[in-house]
Amino acid sequence: MSKKKQMAIGALVHANGSHAASWLMDEARPHASTDIDYYREMAQLAERGKFDFFFIADTPAARTENLKVWSRSPLFMNVLEPITLLCAVAGATTRIGLGATASTSFYEPYNIARLFSSLDHISHGRAAWNVVTSANDYAARNFGLDRLPPHADRYTKAKEFLEVVEALWDSWEDGAFVYDKATCQSFLPEKQHLVDHKGKYFTVHGALNIERSPQGRPVIIQAGASDTGRDFAAEHAEVVFGSSGNLDGAKGFYADLKGRMAKFGRRPEDLKICSGISVVIGESEQEARDKLESWQDLIHPDVGVMRLGQDLETDLSDLPLDEPVPEHCIPKTSNHHQAYFNEIAGMIRQGLTLRDIAKRYNRSKANFCGTVQQIADDMEHWLEVGACDGFMISFVALPSTMTDFVEKVVPELQRRGLFRHDYEGRTLREHLGLARPENRNVAAAAQGLAKRA
Ligand SMILES: Cc1cc2nc3c(=O)[nH]c(=O)nc-3n(C[C@H](O)[C@H](O)[C@H](O)COP(=O)(O)O)c2cc1C
Repeated sequence: MSKKKQMAIGALVHANGSHAASWLMDEARPHASTDIDYYREMAQLAERGKFDFFFIADTPAARTENLKVWSRSPLFMNVLEPITLLCAVAGATTRIGLGATASTSFYEPYNIARLFSSLDHISHGRAAWNVVTSANDYAARNFGLDRLPPHADRYTKAKEFLEVVEALWDSWEDGAFVYDKATCQSFLPEKQHLVDHKGKYFTVHGALNIERSPQGRPVIIQAGASDTGRDFAAEHAEVVFGSSGNLDGAKGFYADLKGRMAKFGRRPEDLKICSGISVVIGESEQEARDKLESWQDLIHPDVGVMRLGQDLETDLSDLPLDEPVPEHCIPKTSNHHQAYFNEIAGMIRQGLTLRDIAKRYNRSKANFCGTVQQIADDMEHWLEVGACDGFMISFVALPSTMTDFVEKVVPELQRRGLFRHDYEGRTLREHLGLARPENRNVAAAAQGLAKRA
């Protein structure tokens, strides 16, 4: 019997969970978001579940306005810097992949190339970089700008940024550092390849001061939902976080994104699409729904409205909670997260009240809510019908929702032959079935030789 398609699973971890009221739950530990021991425990739990990767989202800014409301839902207000965090987690784990977000709008390529190469070395080949262009003006203001540059410009810059980073990762061939004491030679000069880049945004003339990393290049993650974002992902990404809240949307996204790859000379299997989902497990479906409802009730109304206003990029705080939101409140264009914007705009067009929209809004994730069997059924179905290659699970309340998933759903997925019983490889690329990229300079030289032959 041929082996069933295997799913990839990533864990998106915010300290107490990704739910807007997670820090208020009984199990939530105060100060977890700056407690490295806590993150190590979460990563070890995810590794017990044999997940492909453990992932930390990020934005380089605390919010500085509306602080009373933010104090009721402190997302990104008090967090460890994610690459630093993952270096510490690397020492407490052995197999699980380690992914972090870093923004192409607010770093220089050399810094990012160096940081992620270091993480790949420190973790023995488990690093992944989530390439984002950032999506809030608070971050822009920390880096000399009043607001984020337009969406299209951010992606043009991201493309140049990533190309420079990849060139830097290839600025040494594998095996360049030989440390040959007998000949008094630590490295082979001919294996260094100078990067000489002069572009619209960056000028880099040099080589990375670290040898090529275990994975050749860390894995590139992306979450583009817009047209520009999808093209960027189709050209460069190896893992994409899908942000479709339902099965039809996810199938459409999957077909569209994989379909775009050929024009960049890539094969569909070079990219794994992990649909963003949240999971709530109960002994019965009703119990799971009641659990979710009780969590939704914890969201302070001001927080619900602020989250909508932030992602719709307009202030909704003066509107009555129990009336439909007028359609004219939808801005003409979005400059931040287009998927989130469209989800909210869609609910406004359906005539839902502000209170109901705030309650239903799930930042473009599908919510798998039910028994272990139902959740495994949904995951199996999404995989089978071509909606995804795996899942990026936002654990809404921690540690309970990840513990439940690891102890109950993972064994069921394993029983169905859909998920590994143990890691077979050492690196994240091996877990995901992604090839180790050849050094571009070696490939170009081989091509040159082949042409001459
Ligand atoms: C699972 C997931 C995780 C994400 N993590 C981050 C993050 O850490 N930081 C960030 O600025 N954006 C994050 N995003 C947002 C995306 O990078 C992107 O801005 C969004 O999907 C909209 O795509 P677009 O820019 O093509 O419109 C995430 C999206 C998803 C689905």
